[in-house]
Amino acid sequence: MKLRAIIKRMRNAWRRHGWRMFGPLLLHNLRYYTKHWMRHGSLRMPRSSVDHIPGVETQRAVYLSELGYTGTVGESAEPYQPIDEAQFRSVMEALPIRLADYAFVDLGSGKGRALLLAAQAGFQTITGVEFSDELHQTAQKNLAAARDRWPNVDRIKLLCGDAAQYRPPLVPVVCYLYNPFGASVMRQVIDVWVRAMSTHSQDVWVVYSNPTQSELFMSEPVFEHQFTKAGSAVFRRRA
Ligand SMILES: C[S@@+](CC[C@H](N)C(=O)[O-])C[C@H]1O[C@@H](n2cnc3c(N)ncnc32)[C@H](O)[C@@H]1O
Repeated sequence: MKLRAIIKRMRNAWRRHGWRMFGPLLLHNLRYYTKHWMRHGSLRMPRSSVDHIPGVETQRAVYLSELGYTGTVGESAEPYQPIDEAQFRSVMEALPIRLADYAFVDLGSGKGRALLLAAQAGFQTITGVEFSDELHQTAQKNLAAARDRWPNVDRIKLLCGDAAQYRPPLVPVVCYLYNPFGASVMRQVIDVWVRAMSTHSQDVWVVYSNPTQSELFMSEPVFEHQFTKAGSAVFRRRA
């Protein structure tokens, strides 16, 4: 990332979060990029195999200032950044379940990288919920380009809207979150999922990469922390 882009991001973060949150956020990011540097030997995001499909682009980060978010969703939203493929694969492979028996839901699905990786991993159905219309349209283009070149693209469904309004499916499910939003939206999302779970007894997993709000799951009696792997915290519905 160029110095000018870093300064712009810091200025935006200061404006959005004020001095109270700026310090902790700065520390969080310093820790994140140090770990990233140690893992990859560079600050650049490694490209994903998904981006080798002609016509597919999931690599470029999109900052909130470019997306023009407003209102409560905007105050809580995190910018678009694609998940590192190795990180995604490593945590999905560690799940002690048969992925083909589960639905996969990505809340904050961006340009669709995690969705394509989940399709390749063999989930039964794959749903992406993305608030930004612009990112949703890019994901639509990406899926169209990948259709005959990538496994199980026909299993993917894209929804454009607020993740807090999404009703979870009443089937065994893995809910995927890659640091999509802050505490206020995450609280609403957890409440919706907990309410839905009170109506069925299906298995529910939550895989939360770069889990900045993990204490909300830790303190939720319905969920039990299973393990943390490659920067992702994994929770399961308590038996
Ligand atoms: C870090 S990106 C994750 C991208 C994708 N899950 C992946 O792994 O490649 C977070 C995404 O969450 C989206 N987002 C933020 N708030 C949202 C909300 N309330 N509802 C739906 N999507 C949201 C952002 O627009 C952004 O695309």
